[in-house]
Amino acid sequence: MEFSIKSAAAGRQKSGCAVAGIFESRKPSAAATALDRAAGGYIGNVMGRGDMEGRAGSTLLLHNVPGVACERVLLVGLGRAGDFGDRQYREAVAAAVKALNATSAGEAELHLVSLAVGKRDVGWRVQQAIAVAGDCAYRFDRMKSKQENRQPALRKLVLCVDGAAMRAAQTALKRGAAVAHGVDLAKDLGNLPGNVCTPSYLAEQAQTLATAHRLGIDVLERKDMEKLGMGTLLSVARGSAQPPKLIALQYRGGAKNAKPVALVGKGVTFDTGGISLKPAPEMDEMKFDMCGAASVFGTLKAAAEMKLPLNVVGIVPATENMPGGKATKPGDIVTSMSGQTVEILNTDAEGRLILCDALTYAERFDPAAVVDIATLTGACVIALGHVASGLFANDAALAKELLAAGDAAHDRAWHMPLWDDYQDQLKSNFADFANIGGRPAGSVTAACFLARFTKKFKWAHLDIAGTAWKSGREKGATGRPVPLLTQFLINRSRKKA
Ligand code: BES
Ligand code: MN
Ligand code: ZN
Repeated sequence: MEFSIKSAAAGRQKSGCAVAGIFESRKPSAAATALDRAAGGYIGNVMGRGDMEGRAGSTLLLHNVPGVACERVLLVGLGRAGDFGDRQYREAVAAAVKALNATSAGEAELHLVSLAVGKRDVGWRVQQAIAVAGDCAYRFDRMKSKQENRQPALRKLVLCVDGAAMRAAQTALKRGAAVAHGVDLAKDLGNLPGNVCTPSYLAEQAQTLATAHRLGIDVLERKDMEKLGMGTLLSVARGSAQPPKLIALQYRGGAKNAKPVALVGKGVTFDTGGISLKPAPEMDEMKFDMCGAASVFGTLKAAAEMKLPLNVVGIVPATENMPGGKATKPGDIVTSMSGQTVEILNTDAEGRLILCDALTYAERFDPAAVVDIATLTGACVIALGHVASGLFANDAALAKELLAAGDAAHDRAWHMPLWDDYQDQLKSNFADFANIGGRPAGSVTAACFLARFTKKFKWAHLDIAGTAWKSGREKGATGRPVPLLTQFLINRSRKKA
């Protein structure tokens, strides 16, 4: 979908549809009032009949409204004016785009963007409108032999703002579009099946991204990992016929000597659990176990598109986790790149094993901060559901930055504890420590495991097990946390530039 900004009065210019909001009960927004005036009271009249009360989520499509240049007028219910906040705004935009998708309008002017949403500024409203519209417009039919669903006609959304807000809105438009492109890339990679999206495929996609945006790229092969002593990463790859890859991408938008932010994404392209095999139900969803990696690629794409003035390194350890004759067995002990030994008591706790070597590898970039992103634990889904990602950090200021970015992008995270008290659960009788800490606080002990490899830098960990994809009828990748990470980089580049 294409987006543009205009400062235009509602319904004055030709377009497929003008979209305006109505509060409960039958209270027109400023844009709806303007439309009604142009139409000589026609809209008020329709409302008077009771067909549009302004209930949240409701829509009413009108054709050939007299005095209005647009072919259609779409009224969108906003709910009670006093309740109108972030959530209600996003839902109103979603309702509008869904209703537009059911029409054959190719272009529409969206006046919801000029609504007041608490203390949010016009930039926020523009960026969120683009994010929500992009979500509604997303389709993944690449793997179907023919396109099943009629493609929506809507190609272009014109976001209408006050003249005074044009500049801020234009900046937000560029950002919003870049984030949407990053989110789409992350969704596409996540949605691809495990037999297509292998570690080699991820490496190829990284190469494509590097070529398109002039990123530096390094892909380590198995023998390179052996030389570096990446024993924990290699232990996960042992059961698979697919060769593992460690992908490092470098975006250099900042000063030569400016320390980079490192983003490390879990890239398990399929997680069977290995010898500690997972049960069959819903195992297909373990194709999404590379969504952390996908979010790193998506964020780098967005950062490069915006030409952010900072340096970013993306590191993706990619492998399958398969059972096989050579697979790692419970009780096996391996040595990580850091030199610490790990007793693998459960081969299904593989994410931390590939991340720990990738985190040690990150040291060589002398990073200003390291953020890893991983579909790491089922326990995080139990703790936070599908709303917030779990955030863990060894640095309070970094945690604060990420929480704020998530709030601004409406891609939220919740701060979880990383106290040493939990470290006891990882005790091993045979190695330096074990790779699992039992059932209590499973997402915390997973983070505690990673913390043993991140002592040399400021580090945060995002557990996205509950937020990276949706299950059920709407099964599919969400592209999270690309919006959070991109906002984090935008904020950082503002501060340091
Ligand atoms: N990829 C899974 C985590 C996961 C499970 C994400 C379900 C989303 C939904 C991870 O590799 C895993 O299997 N974790 C285990 C760890 C356990 C063995 C300590 C888990 O959460 O069950
Ligand atoms: Mn697993
Ligand atoms: Zn996994």
